Amino acid sequence: MKELFNDYVQTLETYIMFQIKQETQRLTPELTAKGRKPISLSMGAPVEPPPEFVNKKLIEAISGEGMHTYTTPKGESYLIESIIKRMKNRFNVDLEKEEVFSLIGSKEGIANMIRALVNPTTDIKNKDIILIPDPGYASYKEMVKVSGGMAYGIPLTAENNYMPDLDELARNIEKDGYSLKKVKALILNYPNNPLGAVTNKEYLKKAVEFCKKHNILLISDAAYIDMTFEGEEKAPSVLEIEGAKDIAVEFFSFSKPYSMTGWRIGWVCGNKEAVGIFGKLKSTIDTGIYKPIQKAASEVLNSKEGDEYIAEANKRFEKKQKIVLDGLKELGWKTDELNPPKATFYLWLPIPPKYKTSKEFTDEVLNKSGVVLVPGNAFGKNGEGWFRLSIVASEDQMHEVIRRLKEDGFRFE
Ligand SMILES: Cc1ncc(COP(=O)(O)O)c(C=O)c1O
Repeated sequence: MKELFNDYVQTLETYIMFQIKQETQRLTPELTAKGRKPISLSMGAPVEPPPEFVNKKLIEAISGEGMHTYTTPKGESYLIESIIKRMKNRFNVDLEKEEVFSLIGSKEGIANMIRALVNPTTDIKNKDIILIPDPGYASYKEMVKVSGGMAYGIPLTAENNYMPDLDELARNIEKDGYSLKKVKALILNYPNNPLGAVTNKEYLKKAVEFCKKHNILLISDAAYIDMTFEGEEKAPSVLEIEGAKDIAVEFFSFSKPYSMTGWRIGWVCGNKEAVGIFGKLKSTIDTGIYKPIQKAASEVLNSKEGDEYIAEANKRFEKKQKIVLDGLKELGWKTDELNPPKATFYLWLPIPPKYKTSKEFTDEVLNKSGVVLVPGNAFGKNGEGWFRLSIVASEDQMHEVIRRLKEDGFRFE
């Protein structure tokens, strides 16, 4: 049977987060029996319910007339209008209807955009290249692989302040024997998963210039754009940069800011031609998002309730980050030197030196303490030696995590 499937699909592994989930489920009875019922700090999925407001709007919408029929993949006009208004209010970005398209979550959107860009081939030297952050969202690499392209990792390091020099990147691509002409897209993700790193307009401007110079689609993944801590400068949209629409598209999600990960809704906006081609692809493979979900999402987007919810959630994440950092400091982690993120709900931490690999460490923490972490190498080769902790569980659970690590003898030494 396997040989019936294409060469790209055959190379896929089960997505790392689901591998971790399966392993956790397998171990749950045993861990629960020894008082270590798993606490999941692996997936980027907040456990709090979404804003009450959005739940109410969903329930109201369900009884509306014509709400259960097919919708359009582009999105109903109320959703598109609400997105246009949000982009204006939040970023002062003007958009036309043709520059916006709804998504069944930004994961789907980014995967389909990559699919629309890459000419699949198994010939390594002829593969289209998508530049992805390393470390970066674990799905990018697989999305490129399944599209028949090649993902080329851009190292994000403390030395480059997680904003790599793009001209140096171009030189390195050529030094590695690849042609810049093969590069189809540059994916940027700020605030970043897994690092929590942020960027600024100056860097985004350079990225726009770089992409224009080399005729590369700039894909900005803005899944965490509203998730900066109180008092921090709000994260900018790439579309705020003059001329960005000539070369850029940006992906947004309701998942993280409103804890709506299961609703599966987001949007892409930016370059009209790119959005148009992408829309044609999507029209052939999906028929859009359930209308009541679109309706409720469109209502929350520009609401006072929605904005207050995001601000409160960011405060909670900041508070929980402090609980974890204080606890890890007691366990020997040099948290003062880590420059913890001021955005997202992720913490990116070094594994204790006695472990050879990230996986060895995260496996032991799971097996002994029932704390579910993600090994850093899941996010790219620069992630080896690190692990990601998502501060998505409750405050009590965060205290419990530290208590367990202490009791089970985990220390950074
Ligand atoms: C960087 C980044 N982009 C996109 C996504 C996908 O989010 P969704 O498909 O729920 O919008 C995630 C989810 O973890 C992410 O971390």
